[in-house]
Amino acid sequence: DGVTSPGTGSQPRELQIEMLTRSLLILFGSQTGTSQDVAERISREGRRRRLQCRVLALDSYDVVNLINEPLVIFVCATTGQGDPPDNMKNFWKFIFRKNLPPTSLCQMDYAVLGLGDSSYAKFNFVAKKLHRRLLQLGGNALLPIGLGDDQHDLGPDAVIDPWLLDLWRKVLGLYPVPSDLSVIPADTPLPSRFILNFCDEAPGISYEEEHSENQRPEELPSDHKPFLAPIVSNQRVTAESHFQDVRLIEFDITGSGISFTAGDVVMIQPQNSASDTEQFCHLLRLDPNRCFVLQPREPDVTCPVQLPHPCTIHHLVSHYLDITRVPHRSFFEILACLSQHQMEREKLLEFSSAQGQEELYNYCNRPRRTILEVLGDFPHSAASIPPDYLLDLIPPIRPRAYSIASSLLAHPLRVQILVAVVRYQTRLCKPRQGLCTSWLASLDPQRGPVRVPLWVRKSGLSFPSEPNTPVIMVGPGTGVAPFRAAIQERVAQGQTGNYLFFGCRQKDKDFYCEAEWQELIQKGFLTLITAFSRDQEEKIYVQHRLQEHGALVWELLSQHGAYFYLAGNAKSMPASVSEALTSLFQSKGGLSSPDAATYLTTLERAMRFQAETWA
Ligand code: 2AM
Repeated sequence: DGVTSPGTGSQPRELQIEMLTRSLLILFGSQTGTSQDVAERISREGRRRRLQCRVLALDSYDVVNLINEPLVIFVCATTGQGDPPDNMKNFWKFIFRKNLPPTSLCQMDYAVLGLGDSSYAKFNFVAKKLHRRLLQLGGNALLPIGLGDDQHDLGPDAVIDPWLLDLWRKVLGLYPVPSDLSVIPADTPLPSRFILNFCDEAPGISYEEEHSENQRPEELPSDHKPFLAPIVSNQRVTAESHFQDVRLIEFDITGSGISFTAGDVVMIQPQNSASDTEQFCHLLRLDPNRCFVLQPREPDVTCPVQLPHPCTIHHLVSHYLDITRVPHRSFFEILACLSQHQMEREKLLEFSSAQGQEELYNYCNRPRRTILEVLGDFPHSAASIPPDYLLDLIPPIRPRAYSIASSLLAHPLRVQILVAVVRYQTRLCKPRQGLCTSWLASLDPQRGPVRVPLWVRKSGLSFPSEPNTPVIMVGPGTGVAPFRAAIQERVAQGQTGNYLFFGCRQKDKDFYCEAEWQELIQKGFLTLITAFSRDQEEKIYVQHRLQEHGALVWELLSQHGAYFYLAGNAKSMPASVSEALTSLFQSKGGLSSPDAATYLTTLERAMRFQAETWA
């Protein structure tokens, strides 16, 4: 019985209870980092209200402890076709177990905040499903679910801001701020999460390096311990005169223990360029050669395992801090608190306020301005940032996922990827560049050894294991990558029945892998149907070719149990391909419109229609 048990240490029992019950757990499921940023914002606002706050990715939390938590906020994104983000997949499986008693969570007050995009059919599907499930398990919802929407003119904050006001009203109603304390004002800095203890020791060796020199195949490379893979080749596969630079890049994975099959994805951890790293250190008056040891300020905070111990400022900036991403609103909020320069501080406070969001959007998101550029616009504030706050201000560089474009059966001990180098123009004069693709494109194995941190993730696309099952693959542009892997794998196994619909702009500009396809066509392994969108007046896309070859597609699906795959750049292509399919089910299969839609769903349920799309 908790009431009669003696207090421990020097604190009176009432205070202990107070501290225990004023504890707030914030769990997030985040794919691109936005949910994590919101979770951290909730934690900062909670700390200002003197709550004990912990923030964790759902899969980093030991979910069996949930029954003991008094107060939990869930912040969850929805990805792809209504899927949970990768860092909550285990939690997702656990929470939907059938044998969980309906009173499991009856001690828990909770709130769910979803982040989604209403242009997708399954808008905030994960958050909605979670909210229902927590109720089912006896949890007590403190307030209605919040449904953040990327499509909102002012971004998801338009929903999040009022939702949070409601949340704090409810939370403080239950757990008022202790009478001897007050709420910490929004313009006063909270303590940093880490302390950077500068030292004179030599820098340590990074986790990756340690791992690459001391291979233990039983421990597969992962986000915490990537494999440093040498680049074997880096070849441009589009014509020099073509607008887009697409690369076929090959890595050597000898000794990594990595294995994969067609459809899997390689994760690559990119780095900032030397010039960006240098510019950042200059703006912040940081000596890149100084070494530090990172120390968490609170016991609940864990240090990033990727960083060597001790670490140089140069390594922290070049390998860890995502200085070329568009800053979140929290960046302005924290920088405003730290700034000593009155004019800059006022502007920063405006950008972090609810009223300033439209202006912030126009300043930052629309032109895709980077953290580095913003710091350049606020030079006095940048120069006075205490190094302890670097990891609060700037999120870590995220790994990027690429569909593997080769098969181990055709290229043993190798991983190949097909990458379109991201470069685009915005209202800013300087062209924008994708961090990872530009970094990869810059790596030249001719100019000395280059190693790239990577690991492999099992992914959504899986190919039929039964022999003689035909596969129809629709992959315009770099969408062809997973299909190149599948075709190589199937050809190595002697399987025919490979149908590829490939789309690109012009036959002589971006029809990559043409020679490989020609060889396979001649050997009778491949049927290739191309759509060159700009070799004639009118646009011809893969979906048009599907329609034209409707009789073949229908026969393969309805008579021969074919599997259908779709990969590539999202936007309207996936919807157009689905439409082309349902339309040919009607014209060639004689199905009614509702039956055609049902047929597609049936294929999907049987894993005979699979899609992998990316932004
Ligand atoms: P476009 O650039 O000429 O419009 C690979 O990028 C190929 O996909 C290009 O030929 C491109 O054509 C085409 N593409 C662009 N939008 C598409 C869509 N909505 N559906 C199918 N293909 C598309």
